[in-house]
Amino acid sequence: MSELKLYAVTCEYIKGEKQFYYRAQNFYKDVPASEEGMMGDFVEISEIDLEGSRQFLKKFGPGKAGTKRALDCGCGIGRVSKGVLFPVFESMEMLDMMEEFILHAHEVYLGDYADRVEAYYLYNLQEFSPLTKRYDVIWLQWVACHLTDKDLMEFLMRAKQSLRPNGVIFIKDNMARQGCKLDPIDSSIIRHLDIMKNIIQTAGLTILDVEKQEGFPEAIVPVWMIAMH
Ligand SMILES: C[S@@+](CC[C@H](N)C(=O)[O-])C[C@H]1O[C@@H](n2cnc3c(N)ncnc32)[C@H](O)[C@@H]1O
Repeated sequence: MSELKLYAVTCEYIKGEKQFYYRAQNFYKDVPASEEGMMGDFVEISEIDLEGSRQFLKKFGPGKAGTKRALDCGCGIGRVSKGVLFPVFESMEMLDMMEEFILHAHEVYLGDYADRVEAYYLYNLQEFSPLTKRYDVIWLQWVACHLTDKDLMEFLMRAKQSLRPNGVIFIKDNMARQGCKLDPIDSSIIRHLDIMKNIIQTAGLTILDVEKQEGFPEAIVPVWMIAMH
C-alpha cells in the first residue's frame, strides 16, 4: 500500500475528528487519578513497563542526548515522569488534557519531584506547539493512540523542531497485530507498527530504533517503543 492509501484508511475509521476527541475527554473524566487509572486493568505490569522504558531510554539518553529538560506528553498523573524521566533529567515539563490528573501529579503523586517541574501544560496535544529547541527528550506514552493520523503527524513535525541538539522523541504505545483498529469508547487507535512508522516518516522524522516491550502477558495487545529524531 502507498503512504497516502494507509493514511486514508486510518482516517475513514474516525468519521469526524471533533466527536473523536470529545469521546476521549468523556472517557477520561471517569478515570481515577491513580496508577490503576493510567494502566487500565493492567496496573500489575506498570513496573515492567517502566523498567523497559528506562532500558530503552539508556540507549539514546544520557551521553547521547542531553539531560537538561524532557517533555512528558499525555503524562496523566506522571507515572512515566516519576518512574523514568525525573531520575535522568534536570527539569521536566508535563502535558495532559485532564486538569484532575495534572493537579494530582503536582499535589500528591510526584512528591519532591514536583519542585523540578518547569511547566505543566493543560492542553490537547493536537493543539500544542512546543517552543523550538527546548527538549532533550519528548516522551509520548499511550497518547499517540489518541490522535488522528493527521494530528499525530503534524504534532511530530512540531516536536522535531522543539528538540535540542541530539534530542530524541519516544513513542510507546499499543500496536495492532494487523491493520488498525479504533476503540470507539475511549477514541484510541491501535495501529500496526508499519502504519505508525509510515506516519513518523511522512512527518519527516528518522527512526533510530524500535523495540517490543517484553514481559507483558500474551493476552494483551503488543506494546512497542520507537525512538526517532
Ligand atoms: C492511558 S493514559 C497514560 C498516561 C501516562 N502516559 C502513563 O503511561 O501512565 C493516557 C493519557 O493521555 C491523556 N490524553 C488522551 N488524549 C489526549 C490528548 N488529545 N491531548 C492530551 N492528553 C491526552 C489522558 O488524559 C491520559 O492522561
